[in-house]
Amino acid sequence: MTYQNFSLSQLQAIDAAHYLHPFTDHKDLRASGARMIVRADGPFIYDSEGHALLDGMAGLWCVNVGYGRHELAEAAYEQMKELPYYNSFFRCATPTPVLLAKKLAELAPKHINQVFYGSSGSESNDTALRLVRHYWALEGKPEKNIIISRNMAYHGSTVAATSLGGMSGMHEQLGGAVPNIKHVMMPYAFELALPGESDHDFGLRAAKAVEDAILEAGAENVAAFIGEPIMGAGGVKIPPASYWPEIQRICRKYDILLMLDEVITGYGRTGEWFAAQSMGIEPDTITTAKALTSGYQPLSALLVGDRISKTLVEKGGEFYHGYTYSGHPVACAVALKNLEIIENEGLVERVKNDTGPYFAKMLQERISGHPLVGEVRSLGLMGAIEIVKDKATRERFQPEGSAAVVVRDHAIAQGMMMRATGDSMILSPPLIWTRETIDMAGDRIVKALDLALADLSKAK
Ligand SMILES: Cc1ncc(COP(=O)(O)O)c(C=O)c1O
Repeated sequence: MTYQNFSLSQLQAIDAAHYLHPFTDHKDLRASGARMIVRADGPFIYDSEGHALLDGMAGLWCVNVGYGRHELAEAAYEQMKELPYYNSFFRCATPTPVLLAKKLAELAPKHINQVFYGSSGSESNDTALRLVRHYWALEGKPEKNIIISRNMAYHGSTVAATSLGGMSGMHEQLGGAVPNIKHVMMPYAFELALPGESDHDFGLRAAKAVEDAILEAGAENVAAFIGEPIMGAGGVKIPPASYWPEIQRICRKYDILLMLDEVITGYGRTGEWFAAQSMGIEPDTITTAKALTSGYQPLSALLVGDRISKTLVEKGGEFYHGYTYSGHPVACAVALKNLEIIENEGLVERVKNDTGPYFAKMLQERISGHPLVGEVRSLGLMGAIEIVKDKATRERFQPEGSAAVVVRDHAIAQGMMMRATGDSMILSPPLIWTRETIDMAGDRIVKALDLALADLSKAK
């Protein structure tokens, strides 16, 4: 039985009857019905009614090589025929995750040479949390177990990942977070810089919030700092250039491990393989997922630096942690092929030297002057458009987030899939976008902004 035997309204009724969607107000969804995306090719997704949408979000920040890559389907098929599954527990391995681990060690910063696999970013952040606490215990400092994170951080949706994240709504529904995780201010100059404060000074002040938290807890009690190089789900918040070097200095000064969450920024999005390289950060762990397989298979890889892995190997004994699908051979075969595509097509260099700068120029020249836009920002192929009521004062429309949804709905009607988080419109397209695709996106976004302005002006 295939979906073609069902009408859209039949599928929506079945969806409403049986399927609890992630991050969804279910009553609301049932009132409107879900949009059914039924196929995709290159940079476009198609819904059941035949509408083509330019996918400005690469699925959910993951389909970096675009859709319709038969090589990835073939890699999965070949691996499934040869060996669909075997585990890496009790002294066994399968060759594909072994070879992928070697490849990841080659791509990662020099001091990172080991990999622990999971199936999602959330799982790998759980692994990271357990690993850094275990590291300090093995070093004879079990009391050094506080993790410092930021408000509005997103590290995933398991209990540990939600606790690491800084989304207050998620915390409220948790009914008890993992203890000893503290949150400090985020490096978001657009809203948090003081009048007259330079970006540089704001970046230092946001980093100082981390130092203050360390001093308050006592450095002897702090295991690590965790952060996304660019906060993604929180609204593509790009910190000032002064922020990360200062964080790095603070972590070194107090001997605090640095955990980088590159679930979104990994594998080329910022114009380097990892944002750690774009921003000169030397982390102890890097959480990666999503674009590792371009979303064609669920797979995550926690990249583990030499300092931690040396202790784990030499002093650790058995690490009581792992998943049935750690190092799943099919997912790893797809990842290897995906990385080969990214390399062969020079996608990382293209983002750095061509499409990333062109994307920034499009946002600056065509979007930033619009009356609804308070700021545009981007790095590589990752960007945001801040929606405001008043350009000069940065006053927002009320209730918060409502205006961005109007823009988003017009964008979708114009054939442009983009996402609204709060009052930020966010973009994270496949890395195969060309200058022509960026121009097409620009046309559609400008139209959506004009239509939204007309609606919002009427509502004033
Ligand atoms: C920075 C970051 N970390 C972790 C996650 C969680 O990944 P997953 O949804 O694969 O569990 C996400 C998901 O968007 C993310 O953006």
